[in-house]
This record gives sequence, C-alpha cells and structure tokens, in this order.
Amino acid sequence: MYAITIPEPGGPEALVWDEVPDPVPGEGEVLVEVVAGAVNRADILQRQGFYDPPPGASRYPGLECSGRIAAIGPGVSGWTVGEEVCALLSGGGYAEKVAVPAGQLLAVPEGVDLRQSAALPEVTSTVWSNVFMIAHLRPGETLLVHGGSSGIGTMAIQLAKAVGARVAVTAGTKEKLDRCAELGADILINYREQDFVAEVKQATAGAGADVILDNMGAKYLDRNVQALAVNGRLAIIGMQGGATAELNIGALLGKRAAISATSLRARPLEEKAAIVAAVREHVWPLVAAGRVRPVVDREIPMSDAAAAHRVVEESGHVGKVLLVAP
Ligand SMILES: NC(=O)c1ccc[n+]([C@@H]2O[C@H](COP(=O)([O-])OP(=O)(O)OC[C@H]3O[C@@H](n4cnc5c(N)ncnc54)[C@H](OP(=O)(O)O)[C@@H]3O)[C@@H](O)[C@H]2O)c1
Repeated sequence: MYAITIPEPGGPEALVWDEVPDPVPGEGEVLVEVVAGAVNRADILQRQGFYDPPPGASRYPGLECSGRIAAIGPGVSGWTVGEEVCALLSGGGYAEKVAVPAGQLLAVPEGVDLRQSAALPEVTSTVWSNVFMIAHLRPGETLLVHGGSSGIGTMAIQLAKAVGARVAVTAGTKEKLDRCAELGADILINYREQDFVAEVKQATAGAGADVILDNMGAKYLDRNVQALAVNGRLAIIGMQGGATAELNIGALLGKRAAISATSLRARPLEEKAAIVAAVREHVWPLVAAGRVRPVVDREIPMSDAAAAHRVVEESGHVGKVLLVAP
C-alpha cells in the first residue's frame, strides 16, 4: 500500500507519499481500507518531530479515517467485511489501509457520506470526553469554546447547543465568528480585538462560563480562571499558547473551580473504547437526526497531504480538512 511517511521531521514537504508494507490486523483489530482521513493539529506536531506516536501505534500520521472493512483479525466479533465505518486511530490514517482496534470503530452514521464521516471520530471523541464526561456540561449552562471555528470548536458548538447549553466562542476573524454563529454560537468574541474575560462576564450578567474548552494552555490559564463561574470547570486540551504558567490558586478556591487536562491519543485502549462507546450512544443519534454534522472545509488528495498541512498551519480553514485516498 501507499502511506504518508515522515523520513525526516520538518515542514510540510517532510510528508512523503511512499510504498510501505500493508498492516496486518492483530488480536482484536480490524483492517480498514481507507477512503478518507482528516488532518488534526497533532499531525503537524508529529511531522515537526515533537509528537511521537504512542507505543504500538502506526508510525504514519493520521488520528481518524473512514473506509470499508477489508479483513477481521482474531478475537473480533460484531463487524463484517465490506461494512462502511469510521474510526478513531492512534496513528496510520494517512494511508490506504490501517489496522484499528475494534473498540475504536464506529458505523457510518445514517445520512452522512462515507468520505465526510472521516471528519467525525477525533472531534466527537475529544469534545464528548472533555466537555461532557469530565466537565459535565448541563442544559442551561454556558460553554466557552476557544478557537470556535477549529475542527474541535465546530463540533463543540454543535454538541453543546444540541444539549441545550449556551455557547460563547473566540475566533480571530469576523468571517470565522459568522460561521460559528451559523452553527449556533450565541456569544461571538474576536480574540484579536476583544477581551474574552470581559465579554463572557458581560454576556452572563457577571457570572462567567460554567465550562471552558481550552486549546491555548499557558497563555490563557489565568484569564480562563477569571472567566470561570463559581463551580466552573476548565478543560484544557491544547498547548498552542505554551505549557508552563503560574496560577493564583486562591482564584480557584474562591470559585470552587476545577481544571482538567487530557490527551486522547495517549489514553489506554480500554479508555478509548469507552469514549467511542459513549460517542456511539450519545452523539451518533444526534448526527443521524441531522442536529450535528461534520463540518468539512475542503478535500485534498491524500498524496498531497503537504498542501493540507499548509492550510491548517495558516489557519485557512473552518472545521476539518479531509485527505481523500486514491
Ligand atoms: N487533548 C486532546 O485529546 C486533543 C484532541 C484533539 C485536538 N486537540 C487540540 O485542540 C485544538 C484544536 O484542534 P484542531 O485540530 O481542531 O485545530 P485547528 O482546526 O487547527 O484549530 C486551531 C484553532 O486555534 C485557534 N487559535 C489560535 N490562536 C488563538 C487564540 N489566541 N485564541 C483562541 N483561539 C486561537 C485558531 O483560531 P483562528 O483560526 O480564528 O485564529 C483555530 O481555530 C488544538 O490545540 C489541538 O491540539 C486536543
């Protein structure tokens, strides 16, 4: 098969479409013939040499895909060859074939195109596990999503609205904020021109956000805690603004607030399977009902993954960039 390899870390040109051995599904795995993959921010870090795949994972990039089951490994039941699926991966999605632990497979939801379903596994799993399983966002509460037009952000807006929460977003341009509003965001904040703490406080009569989904890490830590409501929950999933920050713990105590931080890729197989099962139970019915949909910015041939990385690095996209296999 062909896959995107990274012979040497570097810029987008480090991604090389090359012939490699076919993966063989191991115990509990299924072989998927890939129709499409999708780009995640983490793939860029892997390409640059800053994010090695966890032990046992494919060394090719790609954290999600859609396709058809080509073979079933030992010990797998409940799936059949030829079935259309999408999957959460620990790597290997930028390839014509990938071996997937069966617990990370999802049937393509009703009403969604097979290719476009590649945009769903990583964002639904990340948002559901952080915003709902850890931070327990409830109907009527306010969620602040940083980077509202990102792959993650566009899913967070839709899921939070579907459960009856109010959604505030930050983005860097008016056009991106408009797209967030189309998806249902209620409070639109341009992070280049406005102070998100003041804007969230004003929109919530001084209370603040009940849950914040944060991609910035260190740069926003102090201001995120300021923007939290009493009993607020800050869920950190990214470090685009650095990893090290100082925090006045008193500000947390006074609010009885909580901070969580997780990385989906590094979680053990059982935890990923539990998250995917929760996505199947809670998110898939919303997708099938048309209340939540994949937001795809564009489709690019997988062999030209470099072009897709350039788009994402320049933040020229809204939602997800897909990589279509030959
Ligand atoms: N921990 C996990 O398990 C996990 C899983 C998946 C993703 N993530 C993280 O989630 C984040 C989003 O991932 P993605 O793949 O959806 O990325 P993406 O589509 O590339 O989006 C990155 C976003 O960052 C926003 N941004 C840049 N500077 C900002 C600032 N100062 N304030 C607020 N937003 C800012 C961009 O907004 P503009 O375009 O408007 O500038 C853009 O929306 C990344 O940090 C990624 O690493 C974590």
